[in-house]
Amino acid sequence: MESLFLIGMMGCGKTTLGRQLARTRGWDFLDFDAEIEQRTGVSVRHIFDVEGEAGFRDRETALLREFVGREHAVFATGGGIVLRPENRELLRTGGRVVYLHVTPRELALRLKQDTRRPLLQVADREAVIESLYQLRDPLYRETAHLVVALGGRSARHSVELIERGLSACQPS
Ligand code: S3P
Repeated sequence: MESLFLIGMMGCGKTTLGRQLARTRGWDFLDFDAEIEQRTGVSVRHIFDVEGEAGFRDRETALLREFVGREHAVFATGGGIVLRPENRELLRTGGRVVYLHVTPRELALRLKQDTRRPLLQVADREAVIESLYQLRDPLYRETAHLVVALGGRSARHSVELIERGLSACQPS
């Protein structure tokens, strides 16, 4: 299980921290949304517009199936990856899974200016973040081997916390 999957809400820092974790470990870094955009040549927003959320989720699951089993890689997943039971199972068997926990309040602040995420292009963004959090927080916890609470920490400190947590919960 020599790979890491970072899971958590939009805006929790999966991409930024994943890149740093990969760099310090000398591992590959892969970002699900970026990979899907690169392969399709269009934005995630465009895929949601044309294929709907279901079409995007199919692409996400296909990519996960492809990535599972890959060694020495850090993956930044999309925030909705835990919605499908199949994905949760694939994640847990595919590597160490780390939930980056950030409160909905802080997420709302971080995502205030976002124009990239289709689910947030709504009038009441805070309410959407809150309801997605209520639905997904239990799924992230159910899927993760390790939960790291990140509120207000610097990226460097967050990476240290994650590494410390991982070495304290080695796979049996
Ligand atoms: C989504 C999160 C996004 C992206 C898509 C849907 C979600 O990824 O996959 O907009 O359902 O939470 P990030 O978590 O990297 O923003």
